[in-house]
Amino acid sequence: TFLGIDIGTSGVKALLIDEAGKPIGDASAPAVEPVRPHPGWSEQNPQDWWTATLGAIDALKAKHPAELAAVKGIGLSGHMHGATLLGDNDQVLRPAILWNDGRSAAECLEMEAELPSLRDLAGNIAMPGFTAPKIAWVRKHEPDIYRQLKRVLLPKAYVRLLLSGEAVEDMSDAAGTLWLDVAKRDWSDELLGVTGLTRAHMPRLVEGSAIAAELKPELAARWGMGKVVIAGGAGDNAAAACGIGAIRPGEGFVSLGTSGVLFVSNDRFSPNTEGAVHAFCHAIPNTWHQMGVILSATDSLNWLSRITGKKQAELSAEAEAQFKGPGETIFLPYLSGERTPHNNAGARGSFTGLSQSTETAQLAQAVMEGVTFAMRDCQRVLADAGTRIDRLLAVGGGSKSALWLKMLATNLDMEIALPEDGDFGGALGAARLGLCAATGADPAEVMTMPPIKTTIAPDRSLSAAYSDQYARYRALYPAIEEARS
Ligand code: XUL
Repeated sequence: TFLGIDIGTSGVKALLIDEAGKPIGDASAPAVEPVRPHPGWSEQNPQDWWTATLGAIDALKAKHPAELAAVKGIGLSGHMHGATLLGDNDQVLRPAILWNDGRSAAECLEMEAELPSLRDLAGNIAMPGFTAPKIAWVRKHEPDIYRQLKRVLLPKAYVRLLLSGEAVEDMSDAAGTLWLDVAKRDWSDELLGVTGLTRAHMPRLVEGSAIAAELKPELAARWGMGKVVIAGGAGDNAAAACGIGAIRPGEGFVSLGTSGVLFVSNDRFSPNTEGAVHAFCHAIPNTWHQMGVILSATDSLNWLSRITGKKQAELSAEAEAQFKGPGETIFLPYLSGERTPHNNAGARGSFTGLSQSTETAQLAQAVMEGVTFAMRDCQRVLADAGTRIDRLLAVGGGSKSALWLKMLATNLDMEIALPEDGDFGGALGAARLGLCAATGADPAEVMTMPPIKTTIAPDRSLSAAYSDQYARYRALYPAIEEARS
């Protein structure tokens, strides 16, 4: 058997699969929610990822002891970009700065001014979500910490360090640091130099489907295992793509997780920095991918849930019960700033069109629509980059809502397929990468499309109304940003 571990922002999921790649069972442990010491900041304690990882695997052991003991390969998936700063003896120097932390906007501009070829080399705009600008911020604002810095790891590489004792990263996650030459699939000395770092600060690089390290004997004994290899694994988005079989050009997914992602595979490195398109390595050799990323997808509903005291499921049920098409209220989902298409960490969310009759049901509908329009923005800039999406599957917690999927299909004007087998997120892709590393199987044969539960077609009777509402949505951002500045 093989084990996939997905280190998510809101929890860790461990999934067991058999030799044929079929899921056997899974278990989860919640993570401590990110701490926001200032507006726009987002931090987590790396120790919490480790506690949740052990918790999830121990829980899996309680359910499937024999199958867990038979594990030969582990794959890791993790939330991307987070800066884990390590000093002597790999001690953690400060809380990790996460993917949805926007504090380093000034440093992004400074980095691009210092190295004018940065966008060409990295294939991406310097955005505060990426890892390198976070280190530039620490160098400026916490020089004592920066002086002690020996190593920077992404979240799943930190967990791998504790699992194996080795610092190793895969290409898909490494691409999100802004230190990788994404075309060459190697660290760039020039890019590292902009933050005063060298290769010595970086983990060793491997492909996602290759062997990265071995599980420590004491941990193998804890779970009853023998010799276990750990694959390179993938950033959570490339891992999700492996899990739904999106590895050929034009195959993609729309993800409604904490973040929202429109992901498409490419057979070559295809940067397009206009419109803040992300161009990264995929998790298997000689493949790349592009994506549009929004920072608050289910996290927007999460926020509404927090302030209204109603559960997310309750809010989407209320929205569904009264839904007749776009209403008066429009929501801009920029609660953590935005990456695609605005690249503006300082952007903020808003509701417009409130009236005396607005209830939480209308707010919930507007939140789901605002996130949908933000995904439509992503599709627009990917199309501007010449990218065609042939096939789209829906993943992430938000894909449980039939209404949200219908809004997406209508607004993207595409059929969206919903997989049958529950929501495995990156864990299934990670387990498949673990299988490839342990057995040498060909990733192209392992990364198949899962059985599809339903296919959601656009509701053409709402297309015109949604195009009008989308035009209003697009007009609001520049107007509101001007008023806020
Ligand atoms: C991708 C990104 C997010 C995180 C969420 O660039 O920042 O999708 O990976 O886990």
